Parts: sequence; C-alpha cells; structure tokens
Amino acid sequence: MFFYANPGTLAEEHATSFVETAQDQRSPSLKTRPLQRCGLHRQAAATAGRQGFGTRLRQLSLLLAWVLVLAAPLALADEARLEFAVGATTVASFDLDELNARIASQDVGLFDPEYGKQKHYRAFPLHDVLRLGLGPGWADDGQADIFFQAIDGYRAVSPVSQVAQDGGFLVFRDLDVEDWEPVGRMQANPAPFYLVWTGANQTTQHGYPWPWQLALVQLAQFDERYPQVPPKDAAPDSPASRGFALFKQRCVRCHSINGQGGVIGPDLNAPMSILSYRSIDLVKAFIRHPSLYRHTRMPDHADLSEQDLDALIAYFWHKSREPRPE
Ligand code: HEC
Repeated sequence: MFFYANPGTLAEEHATSFVETAQDQRSPSLKTRPLQRCGLHRQAAATAGRQGFGTRLRQLSLLLAWVLVLAAPLALADEARLEFAVGATTVASFDLDELNARIASQDVGLFDPEYGKQKHYRAFPLHDVLRLGLGPGWADDGQADIFFQAIDGYRAVSPVSQVAQDGGFLVFRDLDVEDWEPVGRMQANPAPFYLVWTGANQTTQHGYPWPWQLALVQLAQFDERYPQVPPKDAAPDSPASRGFALFKQRCVRCHSINGQGGVIGPDLNAPMSILSYRSIDLVKAFIRHPSLYRHTRMPDHADLSEQDLDALIAYFWHKSREPRPE
C-alpha cells in the first residue's frame, strides 16, 4: 500500500514560483483519483445506455446508469480514509467523521505558500492526529521518520523530531470557498486531507511536509523503508553521511537512489550515477540554481553552502562506488 507521494519546496520569498513548483511536482495523470473514478462510472453508464435496444431494456440501463452515478460519491466518501502504519503494518484508519468524533478541530489562518496567499482552514492539530493514529508513544523514537503519502503518488519524509514540533495542522475543509480551491499548476483537489504548517519557516524548503490528498501516515525507520538510499558503511560524521542527511531532508521527496524515493525528478544513481555523466562543478552549480539552466520543477537551493554541496557530491560518489543492487 506504499505507493503514494506530495509537494513543494520554496520559501515564502519565492512564493510566486512556489505555486508552479508545487504543481509541477504532481503527476498530471494521477492528480485526482476521485475524478477518474467518476469518469469510470460515467463510462460504464454510457456503455449501459448503448446496450439497451428495447425500451424496457433502455429504461433499465438508464436506471442502472443513474444508480452508478449516484453511487459514485458514496464510493468516494468510503474511500476518504486516512491510514496509519508502523513499519509495514497498518495500525489504524479513520474517515473524517471518525476523526471528528475523537479529536477537536479548530479554525486556522496562515499564509499558504502552495496558494501564495492567506488561507483559512478547519483543521485538526497534527499532534492529536498522530497520537490517535500511531499511539501516544509515536514521538519516542528520535531516530524514526514519518512518511506521508498522497493519493496522487507524492511522498514526503521528515524526522519524527521535526514532525513533533508545534505548528502542524491536518486540514479537512477550506473555509474560503464552498468546496476546495484547486491547488498547484495541475489544479489538483487537495481533498480529503491536506497537511499545513503555521510557522514562518516551516516550509518544504526546510524539510516540512505539505502533502495534499494525504492518504497514509507511516512511522518507519528510513533505512528499512528505503534501504538503498543511505550510504553503506559510511562513518556517521563523514561528508557522505552529511550529504545523505541533506539529501534526505531536501531531495528524496523528488529524487530516488537505486529506485527508492520520490518520482518527480530522475534517479541520481541508477542506472548510472549522476557523477558519471555530469562534471562535479556542473552538478554543484545545478543543485544551487537549476532555474539558471532550465524552466524546471526543481527548486533553487541557494542557501546551500559550498560545504553542503561538497557533502552531497561525497554522498553521490559514495553511492556510485557501492556494488549495484540486484
Ligand atoms: C521539487 C522536486 C525536486 C527537488 C526537491 C529536487 N529536485 Fe533535483 N530535479 C528535479 C527534476 C524534476 C529534475 C529533472 C530535470 C529538470 O527538470 O531540470 C531534477 C534534476 C536534478 C539533477 C540532474 C540535472 C541533470 O539534468 O543533469 C540533479 C543533480 C539534481 N536534480 C539534484 C538535486 C538535489 C541534490 C536536490 C536536493 C538538494 C534536488 N535535486 C531537489 C526535481 C527536484
């Protein structure tokens, strides 16, 4: 069940391009599974209509079509559950009514960088949601990570220590509009659940997850979830390990290593390491300012120091030297 993912990266000073970034990070074909489902129902209805030759049969078909059309929203409502897993085991699952029965919601106002403007939401404090879904000791393991997976395939990961900070809210209603305001360049529907943060620096650029269409929250050890990504046998304070820490915080939601990680950007080690077909200088310059090279979904990382970039290179180098996975 772990094939979802999510958005954006830019700090508020980049708010204009942010919206584009977030949008681009979404896979267009998967943007709204609910709509696709409706499409299927409509197709079934049309087919049923064509098959009816006799009047009675046609009436029956039309009836069937309406039943299908009416059933679609019910099927959707059924599906809008937030699942919780510890490791590979699903431990809980709630729909909105069940969450509302167990947690107090509140109004939240914030500058939402995904929309580039002030927004008002009805939301549950993230702490309460995680305590309910993962159990009261969810934040005890400081080494663990929380993986957030969305219906559209986006996935983000953040350390427990970061997710445990104040400021996270699980939004279930947009108070500014009737339904939900489409978000991102793909104009995705953020429903059913959208994770936001109220702190000024709690942006995706600083490693805070902002998934919309959130479907699964998983508490897991990074090494177990993505065993291919950490640098094998690297000393904890080596440049490769520091580079990996940066990669995990800023890059893995978009990039994979040996097939594990995000799906928005290319794999940076398979089948070939990025360092085997690009020069180190170019890779470093690109990471810091991809926008100088291309119109791209990859955000600038202008705040990375020369040391940070060298650490990332050391990490890519380390991965390129490891034996290839089967
Ligand atoms: C929001 C998604 C996103 C994030 C975050 C992201 N990238 Fe990218 N990256 C991309 C995409 C998409 C491409 C594909 C090429 C393009 O669009 O320019 C890319 C391309 C690259 C390339 C290859 C350039 C080339 O074509 O040779 C490198 C290297 C790279 N990224 C490194 C990183 C590193 C390191 C980080 C973290 C510091 C990072 N990226 C963060 C989306 C992202």
